[in-house]
Amino acid sequence: MVLKHKLDFVDSEIGKIKQNNLYRKLRYGKVKDSHITISGKKLLNLCSNDYLGITTTKIQFKQLQSSSRLVSGNDESYKKLEDILARHKTKQNSLVYPTGYMANLGAISSIVKKGDLILSDELNHASIIESCKLSDAKVLIYKHNDMQDLQKKLKQNGKNKVVITEGIFSMDGDFSFLKQITEISEKAKTITIVDDAHGDFVIGEDGKGTPNYFNVSKKIDLYISSLSKGLGSFGGYVASQNNVIDLCINKSKSFIYTSALPSFLIEYSLKRFESNREKQKKKLEKNIKQLSKGLRQIGYEINSRTHIIPIIIGNEKSAMDFGEFLFNNGVFVQPIRYPTVPKNQARLRISVTAWLSKADIEKALEIFEKAHTKFR
Ligand SMILES: Cc1ncc(COP(=O)(O)O)c(C=O)c1O
Repeated sequence: MVLKHKLDFVDSEIGKIKQNNLYRKLRYGKVKDSHITISGKKLLNLCSNDYLGITTTKIQFKQLQSSSRLVSGNDESYKKLEDILARHKTKQNSLVYPTGYMANLGAISSIVKKGDLILSDELNHASIIESCKLSDAKVLIYKHNDMQDLQKKLKQNGKNKVVITEGIFSMDGDFSFLKQITEISEKAKTITIVDDAHGDFVIGEDGKGTPNYFNVSKKIDLYISSLSKGLGSFGGYVASQNNVIDLCINKSKSFIYTSALPSFLIEYSLKRFESNREKQKKKLEKNIKQLSKGLRQIGYEINSRTHIIPIIIGNEKSAMDFGEFLFNNGVFVQPIRYPTVPKNQARLRISVTAWLSKADIEKALEIFEKAHTKFR
């Protein structure tokens, strides 16, 4: 009899992942402005979430607090940032978490509980899906942006009913139907939560986000967002009325039982918030127009109107080949596969940033044209 090692199953699991073309490998790179250097190769970076491309502000590395916020980690800089973020969302208060992922986990599991009913869009981010599971509520997934399905599922019983959607969907770049969702929620007295990680700081007046763009800000009960995308800093936050924030402080395990973000990152967020975001926003809008128009002219089917532009390939292996072709020609777009997107909907998720110059986009389009001839 061959003695098996207790961790032999790991190889077999990795083997299965590889067989399905879903294997992920870490690559080391150095990001600088619109480019990334990987293994000595300088590539145009078309997969950064630093949408506004605010020129790097110098920050001073300071002593870390080395404690959670409820112990001795609550540096004074938090107060200033949280006041600003609350005003930014026109809410009474806000709370910063170490990441957007942790903000979702903490806030949703604090507000929603057993006996409640959650309605969650089928394309919601993994952090929302995990948060819903953590809440112990009954979770119903409605078809993507399908308002009839949402209304039908809202008829089911629940002590409190909660609708959760993204503002701009992270892998498709389309908008959530916030006007209709907030109308439906209002009639059914449903709590409305929007994770606007990709719309915040980028969309709406003064970058106030997707609900502001649709003029429904007041109807959103709880905002969840990231500081690591449009703002190009690091961290996550929620914004809501005072008692909701109070409950989050008292119940969120991902807030209570983890160390505070270092104060220099909080100061970094403040500096970025106070920078000339409007100028960067305009530059980003120009870049989106140039790139999406160019891609359409080549013959790609582009439905997105935002800074997230997916090119749907379908098959996982083909998406990897497409990505490798771009890589070999100097453009970096990481292929996105299951489980981040559904099976057979693998894609190149291009994110446009204000870092890109006109010439950068022209170069990218040249390579996309070559790829179109080769793969289509
Ligand atoms: C919709 C959405 N919510 C939350 C997160 C998590 O944000 P963070 O990177 O700050 O953890 C992401 C990140 O990809 C996201 O796309």
